Amino acid sequence: LTSSSRVSHDADAPPSEEPPPSPSRRPTTTSLLSHALKTGTAASHAAAEDVRFVRDFVDGRIDRESYRALVAGLYHAYVALEGLLDEHAPALFPTLHFPLELARSDALREDMDYWHGPDWERRTQSSSDLAPSPAVSDYVSRMVEVGRRDPLLLLSHAYTRYLGDLSGGKVLSRVARRALNLPDSDGLRFYEFANVPSAKVFKDGYRRALDDLPLSPDDVRRLVAEANVAFALNMRVFEELDVMGGVTGARVRDVREALSYHDLETDGQY
Ligand code: HEM
Repeated sequence: LTSSSRVSHDADAPPSEEPPPSPSRRPTTTSLLSHALKTGTAASHAAAEDVRFVRDFVDGRIDRESYRALVAGLYHAYVALEGLLDEHAPALFPTLHFPLELARSDALREDMDYWHGPDWERRTQSSSDLAPSPAVSDYVSRMVEVGRRDPLLLLSHAYTRYLGDLSGGKVLSRVARRALNLPDSDGLRFYEFANVPSAKVFKDGYRRALDDLPLSPDDVRRLVAEANVAFALNMRVFEELDVMGGVTGARVRDVREALSYHDLETDGQY
């Protein structure tokens, strides 16, 4: 109703101001980003849980060689992700930038020391043994490309990794420690979020911050699509570890299959 029609229907009513925002004026839950991300990536999440490497890890079947390779892959991925987040998040999604609480690069540097010895950094250069594997390279390239073309979507990459890490970290750390026969948590710094006292409380706050971002429906759609790309690129990293570990029948899905969730129109680079 316009104010003039309101007056004509109820002449005695005082001129009313806009009603205060009420819960019913918020977007419905289906348009909230946290809900859209969770439901929109549910199938990808189930598929990720089903990758042999992931299943084996959760069940305590992980050997030192695979774990060393996993740490190197995570190192490259997080250094790239966190460099890009430091560059773009303060302008685009400052309320979801938590370097103090979430950043994993330093923890992974410690884990690289532990698993790969003091000269590991030199060996991360291209064509050395700790250089990014093909699946890790594709994952890093995608994040760099997103940073260049649509940096809001870096949020999808942050969401996919950090909420996953906060959800599974404690369990995986315990599993890895037992399976790899480690005396303490040296080598497992990746799972320690010293500045997140409660993962649950933190994740709830993160979801609220997601929901408070001023986004268009198209932003939400693109963010969900890119989160599915992030899941698929993570699955390729795990699949590659299966191939390296000699798992019968293991294959790394085609990168175009992984990126088909969401085409950034990248000059045909992919
Ligand atoms: C959330 C289990 C693998 C990414 C969760 C939650 C559980 C879970 C129980 C819900 C936690 C909560 O709502 O507070 C598992 C299990 C896995 C697995 C058992 C392996 C067998 C993965 C992988 C990724 C991932 C491989 C990504 C690389 C996520 C994300 C969330 C999540 C992004 C947050 C969902 C949301 O609330 O929006 N996971 N997960 N998970 N997981 Fe996993």
